[in-house]
Amino acid sequence: MNKITLKARGQQFEYSCPSNVTPLRAARNQFIPIPTGCVSGGCGMCKVKVVNGEYEQEIIRSHDALSDEELANGYALACCMKAKMDLEIIAIEDYEKAQQESLENISGRS
Ligand code: FES
Repeated sequence: MNKITLKARGQQFEYSCPSNVTPLRAARNQFIPIPTGCVSGGCGMCKVKVVNGEYEQEIIRSHDALSDEELANGYALACCMKAKMDLEIIAIEDYEKAQQESLENISGRS
């Protein structure tokens, strides 16, 4: 059993995830509002940035859902991955918003 720390929709959630279940499925089973679409690696709506921890990315049906570059840079599809240990993940919308805000803070200071 792994612990998943998820930032999504401006909130932080912690939940347990059996090693044979995807972080997306475990979240949904516990009524945690993780962004979801096709649940089969095709749409990219469940894309997350993995901030901490090791995982295995399984099937990716579309490079529009997750490109090779994103895969290499620690992005993953929560519907098609398995945690190998405790994971810290951020939903892509929340991650991009945080990136944008930090850029604005930097430019606001100059
Ligand atoms: S929900 Fe569509 S790629 Fe994960």
